[in-house]
Amino acid sequence: MTDAVDVELRDITKAFGDFTAVRDVSFAVPRGTFFSILGPSGCGKTTLLNLISGFQEPTAGEVWIAGQRVNGVPPNRRKVNMVFQRLALFPLMTVFDNVAFGLRMAKVPQAQVRSRVMAMLETVGLTGMERRLPSQLSGGQQQRVAIARCLVLEPAVVLLDEPLSALDLKLREHMKLQLKHLQREVGTTFVYITHDQSEAMVMSDRIAVMNEGQVLQVGAPDEIYSLPCHPFVASFVGESNTFQGTVVELSEDSAIVKDGAVQMQLSRTPDMAVGQSYLQFLRPENVRLLPLDGDRDRPENQVRGRVQSVIFDGAIVRCLVNIGRDRPLTTLFTRGTTQAVPYVGETVRLGWRAADVIAFPAQHRDQMMQLQKAQFAEV
Ligand SMILES: Nc1ncnc2c1ncn2[C@@H]1O[C@H](COP(=O)(O)OP(=O)(O)OP(=O)(O)O)[C@@H](O)[C@H]1O
Ligand SMILES: [Mg+2]
Repeated sequence: MTDAVDVELRDITKAFGDFTAVRDVSFAVPRGTFFSILGPSGCGKTTLLNLISGFQEPTAGEVWIAGQRVNGVPPNRRKVNMVFQRLALFPLMTVFDNVAFGLRMAKVPQAQVRSRVMAMLETVGLTGMERRLPSQLSGGQQQRVAIARCLVLEPAVVLLDEPLSALDLKLREHMKLQLKHLQREVGTTFVYITHDQSEAMVMSDRIAVMNEGQVLQVGAPDEIYSLPCHPFVASFVGESNTFQGTVVELSEDSAIVKDGAVQMQLSRTPDMAVGQSYLQFLRPENVRLLPLDGDRDRPENQVRGRVQSVIFDGAIVRCLVNIGRDRPLTTLFTRGTTQAVPYVGETVRLGWRAADVIAFPAQHRDQMMQLQKAQFAEV
């Protein structure tokens, strides 16, 4: 363990009776990073956080915090602090007293308490509100009090369990950016739990994607999105057009995979063989609308279809194109470019590059099951 790592889990397993909630989880959280644990409800996120904070002990494996092995060390002796899903502010205490509470408990001298609390309130943008009660604040302001109360104790690591989930959509969007800025400013390591992939993408330096008690991939947001290493990750993070097809032809560097009426070319991987079943993912923004008869632009895959619907979402236009037998393909493009927006019923030509198709062998039934579950969880 080097100095630059704040939290490390080594082969952590947690069983409750004969149910294993977390299985063989290992990852390291570099100091000063915003690290998110992302996964659907029930996948073991809170359990993992409880193992880091010390509220629960692992069945097997080691937990390291700031260079120390902390198995068996009680929560109050670990250099971590937790912000919960539901705020636990003291309703009858002022904002100042809420934030000062932990410092007073730790018998920090009065003058120091005052200066540290005031400085922290300034950091979270609550100067002037120190005499208010929590009920006299907005949801977002209350959340900032909870975070200030935690940060004022200067923990090495802050653990946050879905702290924005109680807020309405607009406020959540706003707090996302604020929380990210705050983390940058104070430089404290944040371990942040969420089931919302967009939240994780916006805020994190690194993301661990979890499903059914296992961590499937750890990486930067862009890596997770562009180079998913598991079908679950590809389907849970971001939007995709999905296919399940059979390899019908192989050449040196490409493969042809057929899914019913749709046949597409993709990059060949060393383990591909004719007759094998593959899951394919295609990001909507990689599906381009091509001129109907132009031959300048020739991506390896091209189909014609009829526009089924056009949805304007601010600067983004989302277009559903039926490419046969009720198979819709989603394409996204930005408004305001030279591209004309198609109309419903229009015949269009779509194209995508072989290199943009992400494929995984689908011989494992459990992968399919996980995938269906993930899609269900997204709805
Ligand atoms: N004390 C416990 N005893 C038995 N089973 C438990 C216990 N705590 C958690 N579990 C189970 O472990 C699994 C993981 O729970 P956990 O709370 O970690 O999920 P989560 O990812 O935080 O979900 P959510 O997003 O809904 O909060 C669930 O199936 C849950 O029922
Ligand atoms: Mg939870």
